[in-house]
Amino acid sequence: MSKQNRLHYDKERLPKHIAIIMDGNGRWAKKRHLPRQAGHRAGITALKRTIETIMELGIPVLTVYAFSTENWKRPADEVNHLMNLLRENLHNELSDLHENNIKLNILGDLKGLPSGLREELLEACETTAGNTGLVLNVALNYGGRSEIVRAAKAIARQVMDGDVSIDEIDEAIFGANLYTKGLPEPDLLIRTAGEMRISNFLLWQIAYTEIWVTDVLWPDFNSEVIFEAIEDYLKRDRKFGAVI
Ligand code: IPE
Ligand code: IPE
Ligand code: MG
Repeated sequence: MSKQNRLHYDKERLPKHIAIIMDGNGRWAKKRHLPRQAGHRAGITALKRTIETIMELGIPVLTVYAFSTENWKRPADEVNHLMNLLRENLHNELSDLHENNIKLNILGDLKGLPSGLREELLEACETTAGNTGLVLNVALNYGGRSEIVRAAKAIARQVMDGDVSIDEIDEAIFGANLYTKGLPEPDLLIRTAGEMRISNFLLWQIAYTEIWVTDVLWPDFNSEVIFEAIEDYLKRDRKFGAVI
């Protein structure tokens, strides 16, 4: 199928929400005898390409895993570099995001981030809050388990305040207390760099998500790989536990 045709997939059948575990920056750099930081820099370029393709396809929600609660275990140098890279790019790209009608959301604990980055993130979320185009969720200092614990605490507080009764607590209430409140659950989860694991990403939300793993390293990710993932997704029978 030509690229032009791919952009005319049946919109109804396309995923409404794609989530991506952007993995393999380090291996990409290693293959080129470059420092890991060069891999992260190239990873940002891949992210920009990906956002463009997702917008061209008209997919309403994209969630990308940028930094996990476990990534603090990395050497301080690498962590600092990643934080600076994110801050610098956010600063440079904010007007572009806004002009493209993108709404930025951060999934994760902002309090744990360096203050300069946190302020930049808050400004970007505030500036783009009213935008009606692509919803871009960036998971940053994010862990699926800590998100679930956070939701449990928020609901416990609502019970103590008398706003919710224990018997009222259901999956909908639980979902409404997650960072992804109000958004559809991911239809398709893509992981680059070949690992067959979830690494604490969106544990609640991916209960019925279709998973697609590619060996392509994140900095090499491009529209052709997205099309490959989507074409595979379109061939699957989503049964949700039923007989079809
Ligand atoms: C993904 O690439 C980026 C982050 C987790 C921040 P990695 O840095 O994990 O790359 P590999 O897995 O070492 O190749
Ligand atoms: C997952 O990648 C986290 C992000 C992409 C931000 P990791 O490289 O941290 O995952 P593991 O360590 O291989 O499970
Ligand atoms: Mg990795």
